[in-house]
Amino acid sequence: MVVAIKLQEPENIKTLGQRYKNGSKENEGYIDWLRETPHKIMNHMIYTHHAYIKHEFPKIGQLLFSILRTHGKNHLELIEIYLLFNDLKIELENHIVKEEELIFPAIMLYEGTKTNENRKQLLERINEIEGEHKAAGDIVRNIRIRTKHFTVPMDACKTFALAYKKLTETENNIFQHIHIVKLFYLKTLNDYIEHGGFIYNS
Ligand SMILES: [Fe+2]
Repeated sequence: MVVAIKLQEPENIKTLGQRYKNGSKENEGYIDWLRETPHKIMNHMIYTHHAYIKHEFPKIGQLLFSILRTHGKNHLELIEIYLLFNDLKIELENHIVKEEELIFPAIMLYEGTKTNENRKQLLERINEIEGEHKAAGDIVRNIRIRTKHFTVPMDACKTFALAYKKLTETENNIFQHIHIVKLFYLKTLNDYIEHGGFIYNS
């Protein structure tokens, strides 16, 4: 039996790691995730990236609704941005529950046992939710387009500017989430196939 896990982009481990590195190495807090323990990676995901979605997304949704009501007549794009953000919120709120309740425990189980059976279960679970990262990335890219790369209009108020700032922060958070999780899978499974993703044979 063969279970193939397709990463959304045909990148090998070097280029994937490099892309993340390029985006964040200038930050003082840069961490090479391929060198970190599964426990540290999971804690980081839960207490940084997932926490951002849980605590900040409701506030950002309120900000976007507020500017839609105030500026919607002059900025018709705000309705679409609001709807896109809500799609992203629903998608990710469900996604992080699956990651915390299904994927991370399966990773810990496989790390502890290294059995073929647990490996297969982990791969199947990753396969089930991997498309959700692409879906979230697509929505974020759409928000970037609709906001004209988060350009605050001349007639914007402070709330409008804050909402766009939060959307920029959201984009950064989501792409880091996706990169770190993919590196985590690669590190755990250690058998990335350059053009096809992971492959499991039994
Ligand atoms: Fe994820």
